[in-house]
Amino acid sequence: MAQDLTRTYELDGVTVPALRGVTLEVPTGGYVALLGPSGSGKSTLMHLLGGLDRPTSGTLRIGGRDVADLDAGQLAKLRNETIGFVFQAFHLLARTTAVDNVALPLVYRGVRTGERRRRAAAMLGRVGLGHRLDHRPNQLSGGEQQRVAIARALVTEPVVLLADEPTGNLDQATGRAVLDLLEEINAERSVALVMVTHDREVAARARRQIEMRDGVVVNDSEAS
Ligand SMILES: Nc1ncnc2c1ncn2[C@@H]1O[C@H](COP(=O)(O)OP(=O)(O)O)[C@@H](O)[C@H]1O
Ligand SMILES: [Mg+2]
Repeated sequence: MAQDLTRTYELDGVTVPALRGVTLEVPTGGYVALLGPSGSGKSTLMHLLGGLDRPTSGTLRIGGRDVADLDAGQLAKLRNETIGFVFQAFHLLARTTAVDNVALPLVYRGVRTGERRRRAAAMLGRVGLGHRLDHRPNQLSGGEQQRVAIARALVTEPVVLLADEPTGNLDQATGRAVLDLLEEINAERSVALVMVTHDREVAARARRQIEMRDGVVVNDSEAS
């Protein structure tokens, strides 16, 4: 999937080597935790794996396709078809109901209104929010907002779910419940789960732990 990836940011004439050569394969249906201190390159790698950004050098394949061969529109389409994202800060549209937030990725697929709503409502039911369809984000708790974000990530039936510190804004009990949900979904739909965390206890729940430091992988270990 990723071969010798580097990503260098240019900021006010200063060069920041955020990734310095990462090789990584995310197996179908796998569960991988990406661990490392702040600034080690975790989010940069996630953005690349999800096609939100392009590497400075190296080869990146998403869904079997080399991103270097794709223009921006083709990459956006591939992302919509293949990847689901869950972020620490939820990133829901504030003035939009839960069901319409979840339905949004289907707009880009050309799915019709009624069908969009039906699929979004079903996915909200799956994450335990069937009774909150018409609530807006500010009418929901943090844990509920993250469930909406998870439903939005899943409504397109992605191959990979990329979660960047998904429990970072949640209290411990709520965070554990969100992790339980992500793990259930990983198990029941053979969607691969790649989860960024700086918490060793959280990372220990994954089958495989990849540890980063200063833009490189320093440890890659699989639970037996
Ligand atoms: N858009 C950007 N422009 C410049 N530097 C960036 C940008 N994004 C991240 N960086 C730098 O790249 C390094 C890795 O950042 P990041 O991938 O966000 O790390 P992590 O998610 O592990 O905390 C850090 O030194 C960070 O300051
Ligand atoms: Mg980060």
